[in-house]
Amino acid sequence: MRELRVIDETESGDAVAEAVREGLLAYPKTLPPWLFYDEQGSALFEQITALPEYYLTRMERELLHRHGREIAAGRDEWRRMSVVELGAGSAQKTAWLLRALDAEGRGISYLPMDISATALREAEEQLGREFPQLRLRPVLTDFMRERPTLPIDAEAQRLLLWLGSSAGNFEMEDAVKILRDASAEMREGDLLLLGLDGAPEANGRETDKKISDLLRAYDDAAGVTAAFNRNLLKRMGRELGAEFCVEQFEHEARWNGRTSCVEMHLVSKIAQSVFVRELERSFDFQAGESIHTENSRKFTRDEARALVAAAGFSTVKSWHDPDGWYGLYLGQRV
Ligand code: TRP
Repeated sequence: MRELRVIDETESGDAVAEAVREGLLAYPKTLPPWLFYDEQGSALFEQITALPEYYLTRMERELLHRHGREIAAGRDEWRRMSVVELGAGSAQKTAWLLRALDAEGRGISYLPMDISATALREAEEQLGREFPQLRLRPVLTDFMRERPTLPIDAEAQRLLLWLGSSAGNFEMEDAVKILRDASAEMREGDLLLLGLDGAPEANGRETDKKISDLLRAYDDAAGVTAAFNRNLLKRMGRELGAEFCVEQFEHEARWNGRTSCVEMHLVSKIAQSVFVRELERSFDFQAGESIHTENSRKFTRDEARALVAAAGFSTVKSWHDPDGWYGLYLGQRV
């Protein structure tokens, strides 16, 4: 297998140590989401996507399957298409879109970008097998801190993909910046497809989704999401010699109505002091004090369209499951 191109040093020990020092010294304590995705974390996330409570992946896959042809249909004279995907993971959902493009007879090149080498290798292996003609170029990167460089194929229409409601894991201005950077060289007619999870029901509009449905998706009965969250503590143990006792932290999903976010927390059950060898210091926790580890923003349809517009695209169409829980938004470069 060919070497993955590494754009930055995200996985290096220094970056981890620096992020942990900064996050645990902040008040309230916080850790950056990219820390989730080491080898164990990426494997746990793959499990999350198959959980009965985690409807996002299932609905998105269904929408890509059902409407792929329409999304992929040539809207113009371009015969080839370059698909660039931010945070592709193992790209299993994307395969549905590639199948549709394939069926349209369009030549495809595909650049999955992700922070996890394991996930990218799996994508490469599975897609290479199913689509021998596919020009596949995986890129290992953290697009939050490094601007992705896109291939220039003057003959191909470009499609920028950001699925899994991952845009909702960033502050809105950061999500806009990521999209603007990634699409800086796109031309009129190029496309953006965003998969975004919907906000809960308000006055019965758009959806019947309840806050309890949302919280269940981030606190499943089998405890996989809890294990995913706690893997941060284990990773700090493995890589920085941090002496966290994992059982002394509770996984908690909270709804923040002001920001329209599901928040992930690791809450210290007791007052404790945790030594981190690599940082040569300890960090104090009060009983009930939390480390805020993730935000997952939920979008009304207007908010989703506003994000597409802020990125420099006009909304062409959106597709939703019958209950209006999840949405795919297609924008075209103006
Ligand atoms: N993009 C996913 C989401 O917001 C990421 C995610 C799913 C996640 N489950 C999680 C992040 C649990 C942290 C913890 O839904």
